[in-house]
Amino acid sequence: MKNNLKKLIAAALIFMSVFSCFSAGAFADEVGRVSCSMYGGGAAGRGFCWFTSEKGSSDLQIVKASEFTGSFGNAKCYSGEAAFYRDRYSHQVAVQDLEPGTKYFYRVGDAQKDLWSETCSFMTDDADGRFSFVTIADVQASSEENFEQASKTLRGALSVMPEAEFIVNLGDYVNDNTNDEWDWYFKSFGFANNYYTGVPVAGNHDGNITNKLNTFCFPNTFCLDETHNRSLEGVYYSFDYGNAHFAVLNTNDMYPMSRAQRNWLINDMSASNAMWKIILMHRSLYSAGKNINKPDTIVMRDVLLPIIDMLDIDLVLSGHDHMYMRTSQVSGDKAVENVEYVTEYFGGEETTFALDPDGTVYIIPSTAGTKRYVVNDDAIDPIHKVAAVEFSTRDLGGCFATTEIEDGRLIYKAYVVNDGTGEISKVDEYAIKKTAPGNTDKITLDESAFSSIISFLPDFVVAFAKMLVSYVKLLIQVTVK
Ligand SMILES: [Fe+2]
Repeated sequence: MKNNLKKLIAAALIFMSVFSCFSAGAFADEVGRVSCSMYGGGAAGRGFCWFTSEKGSSDLQIVKASEFTGSFGNAKCYSGEAAFYRDRYSHQVAVQDLEPGTKYFYRVGDAQKDLWSETCSFMTDDADGRFSFVTIADVQASSEENFEQASKTLRGALSVMPEAEFIVNLGDYVNDNTNDEWDWYFKSFGFANNYYTGVPVAGNHDGNITNKLNTFCFPNTFCLDETHNRSLEGVYYSFDYGNAHFAVLNTNDMYPMSRAQRNWLINDMSASNAMWKIILMHRSLYSAGKNINKPDTIVMRDVLLPIIDMLDIDLVLSGHDHMYMRTSQVSGDKAVENVEYVTEYFGGEETTFALDPDGTVYIIPSTAGTKRYVVNDDAIDPIHKVAAVEFSTRDLGGCFATTEIEDGRLIYKAYVVNDGTGEISKVDEYAIKKTAPGNTDKITLDESAFSSIISFLPDFVVAFAKMLVSYVKLLIQVTVK
């Protein structure tokens, strides 16, 4: 009897040990979806985010490239926090004491478990007036194959501009916001995410209050400066880089955009004396795609245009409409007349610069992905009147943009990567030369008074009424046409 009991216990132990080995093998934890994002300022701050399937600590090891010996023995260590999100853990660590103009190697993971990501890297801003970045928009894929195809666009961008100091993604990273899609995105774009700083912009497919699956996805997927706002649908934030100040808007925030965010934008931009002021946002104020006639876009345009004019914004890069558009210099909802131009050599090329132009240029660098729209001939006026360039990239390929800033000169170029051949062709170019910063009047508005849903209601009613008026006007225009 005793012997039988021993045999039974031994068999149970063997079974449990085999089963636990099998479990560990089948569900071994690993570090995934690693990102390094702009946080606070380009010279000193970065936000790191990654996911694990099991609970654990959130550790970052970071070392200057000049001191990196191939191991992290002499690395500086930081710890952050983990939050359970969907079926896994999102880990975030923010660092704000980096040295300017420095390349760093880092890895993220769990020090206790000795569970780490691969070795990644990024550069900090050396805070002079020379830097460059690449921009893509609307990957919005829903299959592994389409993420892989879209990633070729970014590979093309980094082959044209390997010296880029960061990568702007104008939102709609994914289509249905499933775990599979995010896993495919990080797998396909790891070649860039692991070696460059990202500037994430929340798209409506990445965070949208009307879709429960999307809520809190964006702020759990990237570690961003949430001093001002962490909402269900995204984050808005700003940063200095070189001689430029960037504001990243959350166009999912309320409807059409909360007064809190608008007041923050005014306070934030007007407090900066930077030479260049740039806004990055997902929904576009000017586009000739199908979305420009939609109420959310119309009302956001009415609300934001006067603010952008007042703040003397130089450039607005946006997405959402999956076609290419660059406006003329725009002010007061009209193309600026009598812009002066000067031709100079830049980087060995003859380049024509708009000289100290009034107004703002609005650009949609089409889409890096495969879902491409045609030009909408019925787009509301005065869209076509202010358009300098508008075309569909449907039969051309994935689109990306490069921007170089050198003191008072900004050179923007757009390219497409041919779907079949992979050949890269330049499709647009625009340059501005400035001799002084724009409006530097500082404004201070209340950012908190309108941030709750209840306090937002009166604002919402007024905005909704304005939207109805705009929409009816549009319907009349289209009917008469
Ligand atoms: Fe979108």
